[in-house]
Amino acid sequence: MTTKITKNIDTAAAALQSGKVVAIPTETVYGLAGVIYQQEAIRDIYSIKERPKANPLIVHTYSADTLPEIAHDIPEAAYKLADVFWPGPLTLLLRKKSNIPNNVTSGLDTVAVRVPSHPVTISLLRTLKQPLAAPSANPFGRISPTSARHVFDYFDGKIPYILDGGTCSVGIESTIVGFDEGVPVVYRHGAVTAAQVKDVTGNVTIKTASTNTPKAPGMYPRHYSPRTPLVVTDDIQKALAGFRGLSTVVIGYSRMCRDLIAEKKIVLPESGNFEEAAAKLYGTLHYADSINTDIIIAEKFPEKGLGSAINDRLIRASKK
Ligand code: TXA
Ligand code: MG
Repeated sequence: MTTKITKNIDTAAAALQSGKVVAIPTETVYGLAGVIYQQEAIRDIYSIKERPKANPLIVHTYSADTLPEIAHDIPEAAYKLADVFWPGPLTLLLRKKSNIPNNVTSGLDTVAVRVPSHPVTISLLRTLKQPLAAPSANPFGRISPTSARHVFDYFDGKIPYILDGGTCSVGIESTIVGFDEGVPVVYRHGAVTAAQVKDVTGNVTIKTASTNTPKAPGMYPRHYSPRTPLVVTDDIQKALAGFRGLSTVVIGYSRMCRDLIAEKKIVLPESGNFEEAAAKLYGTLHYADSINTDIIIAEKFPEKGLGSAINDRLIRASKK
């Protein structure tokens, strides 16, 4: 099979309807999608990604109006968050309805749901009138894809189509929020910050992999990894000195990074709450990994705004 990159939504829809797996664009990262009721497609998503079966998939739907078909006993706070952040980079963990197939949720009684904001995928979902299960379109543990090209480089020959929606505007995965007695719990930092969740609901608990035993099954310590060893540091100058004699590429955002004399360096934009840095993060990691240095040195971000989500990805990318 040769993989075609297409902009034709009907072509992608027809392939999905016939039980095929198709890569789709979202505002966060590209997804490897299948219609939730197509058992073969769901099986293929796991095998193409080499993803452990115990790691459930996110269900993508075109509107919060479809929630009653997917979940029950939906907390008030979930509706409030959906109102503010959908369509957008927020995933809600809700009690699943029995019509959601067990292989989508790895047998859990909860289902992860989100309404993406990418116009191409919203039209695709409206055309299909069926939800799509989609994990990020990277082999298990590798860097997530933010362009059709990234997906092609991973899966050429393994899927019939990649629906091309350009470069992902947000560039970092959705925030995963569950509920404990109606109180929102952030299980994965993402494009919506914990502070933004709190602003809407009045309270928030954080139980990400680094702060607690993971509830979200996919919170593996090592993830998002380039082939090149990556180190994360508060002091890039010192780290660089420590790797003298090796070829390095430095990724950072700060004044120190801007001023640093290094053979290879990529400076991420610093403005605001790091939205621009997040949008460029995975593209930068893909590139840094492609230039074959001995080490990638990445500067740790401040733990504010999207800094927490960026640090989460960098730290997991650095785990051996
Ligand atoms: O931005 C995103 O969320 C992207 C785009 C494609 O939508 N998708 C994505 O999917 O990041 P994935 O599979 O790479 O990450 C989904 C995470 C996994 O860690 C998985 O374990 C967790 O969500 N998850 C899914 N269903 C769950 C459930 N019922 N309970 C707990 N965690 C769940
Ligand atoms: Mg992923």
